[in-house]
Amino acid sequence: MKIGVFDSGAGGLSVVKSLLKHQLFDEVIYYGDTARVPYGPKDKNTIIRYSLEALEFFNNFDIDLLITACNTVSAYALPDMNAQSKYPVLGVIDPGVMALENRNINKEDPILIIATRATIGSRRYQDALEGLGYTNITALQTGLFVPMVEEGIFEGEILEATFRHYFIDTPTPKAIILGCTHFPLIGDTLQKYFDGKPLLIHSGEAIVEYLEARYELSSKDKVAELKIFASDNVAGLRKIADMWL
Ligand code: DGL
Repeated sequence: MKIGVFDSGAGGLSVVKSLLKHQLFDEVIYYGDTARVPYGPKDKNTIIRYSLEALEFFNNFDIDLLITACNTVSAYALPDMNAQSKYPVLGVIDPGVMALENRNINKEDPILIIATRATIGSRRYQDALEGLGYTNITALQTGLFVPMVEEGIFEGEILEATFRHYFIDTPTPKAIILGCTHFPLIGDTLQKYFDGKPLLIHSGEAIVEYLEARYELSSKDKVAELKIFASDNVAGLRKIADMWL
């Protein structure tokens, strides 16, 4: 099976990492819109327009399925993308919600969702979790983590100070939904900040769980061929891929 993975930039490589680790596909075509990242501070119409333009890129490849690794795109653009594509387009929000539901968490336990401004503003995670009966949800826009991760800051003083800035009033959650492609890279540090207690829900692992539950994905021993493309500085993106993957 040949799949596409779309992200606003480099962050979606965290999802590719999970897809490669679980060896589910023969070929993965990655496209990062590095010319226009970040999507998180943009408005809905812009996010949808950029996402539909990305579909045009994938028309050059004969893919069977497209995964939008980007939470921001998943929050707004899936209906339009699905209406215009020949193959299914899946996002990462429903898988993230399903992954949380599959963990042993009480409906009253504190759940923290962190994501971009656009994703939090869409209320996609909050509405889905409330619909399932979770009652103790905190949703925070933590966009500063995006450029920090892109700078290679995964731990240390600046990150600790940013944690304090965002989480000063946040009690230790039972689970944290890492609702942004970049956040798995600071997952360990974040867990330490909250004394190692919270369960982390990671979009990459969640989409694998979701695909395995819903698709007949034959054998699990495929070493996927990965092809990386970008709307700007593809060499830079390939260098990040070498580092992260
Ligand atoms: N990929 C985005 C997301 O997962 C984060 C980066 C951006 O703002 O474009 O929401």
